[in-house]
Amino acid sequence: MSNGEFLLPANLMEAYLAHKEDIDAAVHRVLDSGWYIGGAEVTAFEEEFAAFLGVPDAVGAASGTDALELAMRTLDIGPGDIVATVSHTAVATVAAIELTGAVPVFVDIDPVTFTMCPECLQKTLEEDTENAIKAVIPVHLYGHPADMPAICELAAAHGAAVIEDCAQAHGAAIGDTKTGAWGAIGTFSFYPTKNLGALGDGGAIATTQPALAQKAKLLREYGWEERYISAVPGMNTRLDPIQAAILRVRLAGLSADNGLRRDIASAYTKAFAGTSLCLPTEADQAYHVYHQYVIRCDRRDELRGFLKEQNIGSLIHYPCPVHLQPAYAQRIPLPPGGLPNTEKVCQDILSLPIYPEMGTANTDRVIDAVRLWLAG
Ligand SMILES: Cc1ncc(COP(=O)(O)O)c(C=O)c1O
Repeated sequence: MSNGEFLLPANLMEAYLAHKEDIDAAVHRVLDSGWYIGGAEVTAFEEEFAAFLGVPDAVGAASGTDALELAMRTLDIGPGDIVATVSHTAVATVAAIELTGAVPVFVDIDPVTFTMCPECLQKTLEEDTENAIKAVIPVHLYGHPADMPAICELAAAHGAAVIEDCAQAHGAAIGDTKTGAWGAIGTFSFYPTKNLGALGDGGAIATTQPALAQKAKLLREYGWEERYISAVPGMNTRLDPIQAAILRVRLAGLSADNGLRRDIASAYTKAFAGTSLCLPTEADQAYHVYHQYVIRCDRRDELRGFLKEQNIGSLIHYPCPVHLQPAYAQRIPLPPGGLPNTEKVCQDILSLPIYPEMGTANTDRVIDAVRLWLAG
């Protein structure tokens, strides 16, 4: 087996080169238009993205973190409110809650799908006798949808809104309903490594309720109803038109790219079936878009080191749950039994390389290397 060039876990340059001509043309279209904030490209992307998701409205924002904050502010969540989410996520989910002045509480995850455990959410909601939990934010981590039918039912019974953190799940679905179309609002990041990635920062919210979209549009630009007149206190979080134009190119290929990710995932799953590795699974009705292919392995660090020797990069998403990070430790309420699944999985998870342009030769390289390690 050849060691070859270093294989990155995700390769942004290849993603650009795969669509270079169209992306360059899109960027020049914006440069030549003389319109550098908002405008036709942003509106066109919002419409195309909403159509892709099957919702009436999408509203661009400057990042996925901003999209989360914007979603909460749109739903009037702020100081004095509690928001239930998971600790096994990108820190942005929790940071955004605190940016609104609300307080996060953590719910444990299901160790198989790595997403919010509905039974744990139920306990958290039952303990909230004062009804202070105003929203629930499940995260569709790694591209696998959280159990939205159960989570939406529990939240509705408690009178809490559901905001889906879809930063890692563009195009994922349960049955015919895409992630982002289940809750009151779905939030997206277009950070370059995401399944739908810009070439810089970007984000959006999606909603099935046009009134919420209208309110979000007001809030994202200083609360302006008319220029220079703020009707409500707002933010500045605008999707850049150059990024919107690039995203329109990438959106046209998103379903095909997700298909390529699924092909790589299925090759890995076939190759590693029956080994000691714990492989990702897909819940009934779930359409996984494999933002990451995450295995569990009790000698994870050894495997990671071996892959590195073979010139293969891998990552850990995430090595430390949010509630144990210095900025948050001891500060955020935990459920009575703690977060045992959250604390366990971070010790043995490993994300193998996966990106649409990876190709069969690189997929085989990873498979051969992992098999070699397993045989050793
Ligand atoms: C689950 C999750 N939520 C939120 C974010 C925040 O997105 P951004 O980096 O665009 O602010 C990310 C991206 O890192 C993410 O993975």
